[in-house]
Amino acid sequence: MKKLFIQTYGCQMNLADSEEMAAHLLLRGYALTDNLDEADLALVNTCTVRDHAEHRALSFLGRLRQWKREKEGRHIIFAGCAAQRLGEKLKKTFPYLDLVSGAREIDHFASLLDNSGLFSAAQGGEAQPHGITGYVTIMRGCDFACTYCIVPSVRGPVHCLPSADILAQAAQKARSGCPEIMLLGQTVNAWKEDGKTFADLLNEVSALPGVQRVRFVSPHPAFITPQFLAAVENNPKIARHIHLPVQSGSTKVLREMKRGYTRETLLEKIDALKERGFALSTDLIVGFPTETEADFEETLSLVQRAGFSAAYCFKYSPRQGTPAAQMKLLPEKILEERLDILLNKVKGLAEAAYAAQVGKEKEVLMESPNKGRTSDNFWAQTQKSYTIGTVVRSRIASAEDTLLMTRD
Ligand code: SAH
Ligand code: SF4
Ligand code: F3S
Repeated sequence: MKKLFIQTYGCQMNLADSEEMAAHLLLRGYALTDNLDEADLALVNTCTVRDHAEHRALSFLGRLRQWKREKEGRHIIFAGCAAQRLGEKLKKTFPYLDLVSGAREIDHFASLLDNSGLFSAAQGGEAQPHGITGYVTIMRGCDFACTYCIVPSVRGPVHCLPSADILAQAAQKARSGCPEIMLLGQTVNAWKEDGKTFADLLNEVSALPGVQRVRFVSPHPAFITPQFLAAVENNPKIARHIHLPVQSGSTKVLREMKRGYTRETLLEKIDALKERGFALSTDLIVGFPTETEADFEETLSLVQRAGFSAAYCFKYSPRQGTPAAQMKLLPEKILEERLDILLNKVKGLAEAAYAAQVGKEKEVLMESPNKGRTSDNFWAQTQKSYTIGTVVRSRIASAEDTLLMTRD
C-alpha cells in the first residue's frame, strides 16, 4: 500500500483541512505514515500568516527535492495558505512539485486529484478521525481587515457552512469516537444562518449523542455579546475556556490595527467571561510599527488584568499587500526585547493560573491513559490509568508549572 506523509503548518483550520485532504487520499488507496522516508506522497499544508511560517514551509519543500529523487514514483502536493498566495509560480522555483492546491481550493481537492491523473479512483468508506477531538469547520474566510493580516486576502470573504451539514459532520465524528467537538473558523463566532446564531449552533452541537464537550476557535471579540453569554452560560458542555485573540492592550494600536474594539470594551468582555467561569487565552503581537514603549506597557497591564492562562506571542511580521506593510518597521532589537518581556510575563501568569486550580474539583477528559484536559483547558495528569475519551472527576492535588496533578 502506498504511504502518505503529511506536514501541516499554521492554525487549527489548517489541521482540519489536512484531515479533509487526507481523507480524500485514504479513499484513493493511501495509508498514513509518520515517517517521510517510507512515504510515496508528501502533502505539505502551509501557512503564510508570518514570513517565518511561509519560510519554514518553503524550506521543507526545498528538502523534498532530494527526497523525491531517492525513490521512483514519489509525489508532492503543496497546499494551504502559502500555496494560495504564491500559486502556480511555485512550480517555476520548485519544478519537481506535482500539485499546488491553495487554501480556497479545498472544496475542489478531490477533483484536483482526479484531474491530475496521478491517483487511482476513490473507493467508498469513511476516514476514522484520530484523537478524541473532532474538528468541524463551520465557516471559511474573514470579513475583517486588520491592517497587519494577510488571512482575508488568502482565505477570501466569509462563507458560513449550513448548520445541517455541520450537525451531520459533528454527529458522525461523535459516533466514530470523538467526545469533544471543536468548531473552527477564522472568526468562528461570526457564523450565522437565517434565524440561527452561533450560540444556537453551539447548543445544538452539544446536544448530539456522544458529545461531552464543545470548543471553538478563533472567536473575535466583536461577537462576544451579552446575548451570546446568556445563551451559553448555562450549558456545561460548552467548554469553560475561550481563546480570544486580543493582539494589543493599547486603544491607539488597536485602532491602527483596525481591530474594531478599544482596551475598555475589551476589558468589559474579558470581565464578563471571567465572571461566568471562563478561563481565557489569547494571541498578542509585539512591535506593530506604531507601538511605543507606553503602548507596550498597556499590553503588559492588560495581560496582567486579564490573567490569561496561556498566550501565543508573535513579533510583528510585515505581509505583502497589507496596509501595515507600508509603515516603517521598528528595530528588530526592540521587537526581541518586547517579546522577551511579554513571554516572561505570560509564563508567570500561566503558572499562577495553574496554581490557582489546586484544591478545586475538575472534570478531566482523558486524551491518553494518564493525561487529559479540564473544561477550562488546563492539562491534568491522573494517578491511575483510564480509558481514553472518558471523563474523570477529581480534586486537584498540586500543580507543577503548567500541569495539574489529580488526587484520584
Ligand atoms: N482570525 C484570528 C487569528 C488569525 S491569525 C483572529 O482574528 O483573532 C493568528 C494570529 O497570528 C493572530 O491572532 C495574530 O496574533 C497573529 N498574526 C496575524 N498576522 C500577523 C502578522 N502580520 N505579524 C505577526 N503576527 C500576526
Ligand atoms: Fe486576520 Fe483580523 Fe481576520 Fe483575524 S480577524 S483573520 S487577524 S483580518
Ligand atoms: Fe496560517 Fe492560513 Fe491559518 S495563513 S494561520 S494557516 S488561515
